[in-house]
Amino acid sequence: MLSEKSRPVIEQTIGVVAERIPFITPEFYRSMFAARPELLDGMFSRSNQRNGSQPQALAGSIAMFASWLLSHPEGYPDELLSRVAHKHASLGVRPEHYPIVHEHLFGAIARDLGNAATPEVVAAWDEVYWLMADAMIRIEARLYGSQANDAVLAPFRVAAKEQAGVGTVALTLEPADGTPLTPAVAGQYVTVQVRMPDGVHQPRQFTLVPGPEGTRRIAVRLDERGEVTPVLHHDVRVGDVLTVSNPYGDVVLPEGDGPLVLASAGIGVTPMLAFLDRLVRQESQREVLVLHADRSVATWPLRELHELLVAELPGARLETWMETPGQGDHDGFMDLAEVRIPAGAQVVLCGPLPFMRAARSAAVAQGVPGRSIAYEILGPDQWMLHDDARAA
Ligand code: FAD
Ligand code: HEM
Repeated sequence: MLSEKSRPVIEQTIGVVAERIPFITPEFYRSMFAARPELLDGMFSRSNQRNGSQPQALAGSIAMFASWLLSHPEGYPDELLSRVAHKHASLGVRPEHYPIVHEHLFGAIARDLGNAATPEVVAAWDEVYWLMADAMIRIEARLYGSQANDAVLAPFRVAAKEQAGVGTVALTLEPADGTPLTPAVAGQYVTVQVRMPDGVHQPRQFTLVPGPEGTRRIAVRLDERGEVTPVLHHDVRVGDVLTVSNPYGDVVLPEGDGPLVLASAGIGVTPMLAFLDRLVRQESQREVLVLHADRSVATWPLRELHELLVAELPGARLETWMETPGQGDHDGFMDLAEVRIPAGAQVVLCGPLPFMRAARSAAVAQGVPGRSIAYEILGPDQWMLHDDARAA
C-alpha cells in the first residue's frame, strides 16, 4: 500500500511522469545497456529495443501501477503483475536484477525531470517502484518454485520440423539432457533462446501447441524482418539443439461448463489449439464457438489440426473469415457483429492488436462483460497502456 506521505506527491507528479515516459525510457535503456551489455545477450530482445515496443511497455506499466495505487488503495493490479511476472520468469529475471533496473531508471528520471526531481518526488516514485518490484519478485519466486527443475533454460533437440501452412513451421523439441520437464498448462508459452550469427543470444516466446507426450511443440510464423524466426525457419535442422525455458503464461482455458468463444487470427491460433486439445482430452461437452481469420486457407497455421480438434468436440463449431474471397465462411477481416455470441460466454482472443481491439469492442457491444474477455498478445503488451476499460 502506498504511504500517506507519498500519495499526494504521486498524485501531483503522475501526469508529468506519464508524459515524460517516452523520453525517459530510451535514456534508461541506453544507460543500462551501456553499463550492463550482457543483458542484451540472452535476456532482452534487441528488436523490441529497436522498434520501441518494449521500452513503452516496461515504463508505461509503472505509471499504470501508480495510477492503480491511487484509485485502489487496498489492492494491486493482479492481472498486470501476473502477466509481467510470467514473462520475466520465462526470461530468467532474478531479484538481483531489480536494483540494476532501478539505478538506471531513476538516473534517467532524475536527468529528465531536472529540478522537478526533488528528494520528495524521487522518494515517492522509489516507493512505487519497490512496491511493484517486490510484488513481482514474490510472484516470480512462486513461479520458479513450482517448476520441476531449477534451470531457467534447458537444451532441447529438434525432433521434427514440418511445414504447418505457408509461412509457418512446427518444431517438435525433445529434452536433450536429464532436466525434468514441467507439465505445461494449455495456453502457456516457452522462451526459446537462439544464437544469432553475430554470436549474441536472443530470446523469443512461442506458445505450446499439442504434440507428442514428453516434448514441447511450437508453431513459428516467419517474420522476414525479424531476427529469430528467420533462423528457426531457414537454419535450424532436425537434430540441432535449442535452449528452451520452462512453460509460463497465465492466459489459460476458462474453467467451468459455460460456453466459450475462441477467436484467433493468423498465428494467434496457437493457444486455441492448446485449449481445444485440452477440451478434447476432458471429453468436454461445452458449447465452443471457434472463430478464425486468416489471409487464406493456405496460410492458416496447423489448419488440419484445428479442424480435427473442433470435429472431435460435440459442442464445437468452426467459423472462418478469409481475406482471399470465397475461401472461408466469410470474406475479409473477422467481424464479431456477424456472430451471435452465446449468453454467458467466456471469450478468448489471440492475434494482431487491431484484430483484438475490433473483436473486443464487438464482443462488448454484444453485451459481453470486459472481465469475461481474455486475450494473449504475441508481443509486449502495449494495449494495456491505452485500454481504460481493463484498468477500471
Ligand atoms: P523480431 O526480431 O522480434 O522483430 C519483430 C519486428 O520488429 C520485425 O517485424 C520488425 O518489424 C521489427 N524490427 C526489428 N528490427 C527493427 C528495426 N531496426 N527498426 C524497426 N523495426 C524493427 N510467434 C509465433 O510465431 N508463434 C507463437 O506461437 C508465438 N507465441 C507467442 C507467445 C507470446 C506470449 C509472445 C509474447 C509472443 C509469441 N510469438 C509467437 C511471437 C514471437 O515471440 C516473436 O515475437 C515473433 O516470432 C517475431 O520474432 P523475430 O525474432 O523473428 O522478430
Ligand atoms: C518485460 C515491467 C523489471 C527484464 C517487461 C514488460 C513489462 C515489464 C510491463 C512487458 C511484458 C509484456 O510482454 O507484456 C517491469 C517493471 C519492472 C521490471 C515494472 C520493475 C519494477 C525488470 C528487471 C529485468 C526485466 C529487473 C531484468 C533485468 C525484462 C525483459 C522483458 C521484460 C527481458 C522482455 C522484454 C523484451 O525483451 O522485449 N517488464 N520490469 N524487467 N522485462 Fe521487465
